[in-house]
Amino acid sequence: MTVRTRTALDTLPAYAPGRSVPGAIKLASNELSFPTLPAVAEAISEAVAHQSAGINRYPDNGAQALVRKLAEHTGAPEANIIAGCGSVALCQQLVQATAEHGDEVIFGWRSFEAYPIVTQITGATPIRVPVTAAHELDLPAMAAAITPSTRLIFVCTPNNPTGTAISRDDLVTFLDAVPDDVLVVVDEAYREFDTADSSPDGLEFALSRPNVLTLRTLSKAYGLAGLRVGYAVGDQQVIKSLSKVAIPFALNSLAQAAAVAALSVKADLAPRWRQVVDERDRVTAALRAGGFEVPPSQANFVWLPLRERATAFAAHCEEHKVIVRSFPDASGGVRVTIGSPAENDVFLAAAGSFSR
Ligand SMILES: Cc1ncc(COP(=O)(O)O)c(C=O)c1O
Repeated sequence: MTVRTRTALDTLPAYAPGRSVPGAIKLASNELSFPTLPAVAEAISEAVAHQSAGINRYPDNGAQALVRKLAEHTGAPEANIIAGCGSVALCQQLVQATAEHGDEVIFGWRSFEAYPIVTQITGATPIRVPVTAAHELDLPAMAAAITPSTRLIFVCTPNNPTGTAISRDDLVTFLDAVPDDVLVVVDEAYREFDTADSSPDGLEFALSRPNVLTLRTLSKAYGLAGLRVGYAVGDQQVIKSLSKVAIPFALNSLAQAAAVAALSVKADLAPRWRQVVDERDRVTAALRAGGFEVPPSQANFVWLPLRERATAFAAHCEEHKVIVRSFPDASGGVRVTIGSPAENDVFLAAAGSFSR
């Protein structure tokens, strides 16, 4: 007799993390390539050594100091904010809080790989709405996909992995079409790299419409991917529901301390973000000059919609000691994180020698 597990797991796509290969440059997980800022490293050391609340103690379950800092950072009231163990945990909490078996969760496709996984784990049905030929979220088609069973919609902007951003105007039109009892999550994991004037600020809607929530992370622009800190801003009732489905103490004390410190040195991080943006534009231009299709990216990565050539391209890059992220299927391609200028040069040289 084998142990009975839920049948929903049989068709569950496994999350494939970006691979690390010793000696190779990793451009596969949309991390920031810069080292940890000294103030952040110090805050972590202090949290380890803290006299009365060191790592022998459970962390603050409500992450109060961090939520206070996030309130200062966003201008949102503390009651409208929740922090979580990475924004991916909050994605899962969002589905758990809104959807059950028979309910539907809508998102673009391709979009963040975790959306279908967290949806199916909960027993809800994922509804993938194809992106446009320009690799942009198709908001009118997403609105048209809403049924009485829809509970949650993920709008990822800039979109992972295609890099494209929606406009504020298009988001307003979309939000106006969504019933009030359906939650729209504007996932802005890459917003610090978005330089388009037309892009929305999810906070504006999260604070003015009870059925909109913005999801953000310190994993990317704030360089804390290894510590796992994300947060959501939205209606107080929604935030309360998210806290009910949270795993107790999931956000550890070192992560909380590091996040407070990283938010305090935002000004020191901004030049890093500018470098990423400059490098993204340089890499995009070089790839296009080499004949690749590259949609305009507002994130810290670029998307090469190579479809069935994705696997060969990723293997070719690996031979040249660069690990990129391939999504090998009909709607697939290769996502390449922007690294340091030297790392990007190694990638561009590899891409340039790929025979198509
Ligand atoms: C769009 C999007 N949302 C959320 C996440 C989750 O980030 P984290 O769990 O590291 O905060 C990612 C990570 O890749 C992402 O791309």
